[in-house]
Amino acid sequence: MNNRKFSAVYPGSFDPPTNGHLDIITRASRLFPNIIVAVTDNVNKRHIFTLQERIDLLKKSTENLESVEVLSFSGLLADYLEKINSFVLIRGLRALSDFEYEFQMALMNRKLNKKIETIFLTPDQSYTFLSSSMVKEIAMLGGSTRDFVPKCVELELKKRFGNR
Ligand code: PNS
Repeated sequence: MNNRKFSAVYPGSFDPPTNGHLDIITRASRLFPNIIVAVTDNVNKRHIFTLQERIDLLKKSTENLESVEVLSFSGLLADYLEKINSFVLIRGLRALSDFEYEFQMALMNRKLNKKIETIFLTPDQSYTFLSSSMVKEIAMLGGSTRDFVPKCVELELKKRFGNR
């Protein structure tokens, strides 16, 4: 682990990964030599894809980005960062509505481990309205998710929900 290149960590539940997530990963990969996409279960959310399914979808969606690793963790993010000795967190900020939650999380993570710095990246404006929960709702209600998610995610949603 200590030989790892300097890494920034992009944590999330990614249920499912969206084009907005990929946009953030791509932007982050231009700024840092290595990006760890750290997938976990969000205890406040109900997930439709298992942790392993989300990892597989993210691996497939990022296979063209050499410096991106997809890993998983459980427990506190602050503890995970200590374990892998990486203290830069990436989070996406789509709109002002994200700010309160993200600000609280950044400060709490720094309270838990003072070495942690959170860097916010804004996605392309065409993704500012996009969220995993909306994608799930569209799929569950039979709509097409083609414009919102990578191809492999679209196919998986179709298998699960028989949506357009
Ligand atoms: O994509 P999400 O669901 O908005 O990501 C939130 C996530 C998973 C990054 C956050 O819930 C998290 O860090 N969970 C791990 C447990 C933890 O450390 N909780 C305290 C956060 S201050």
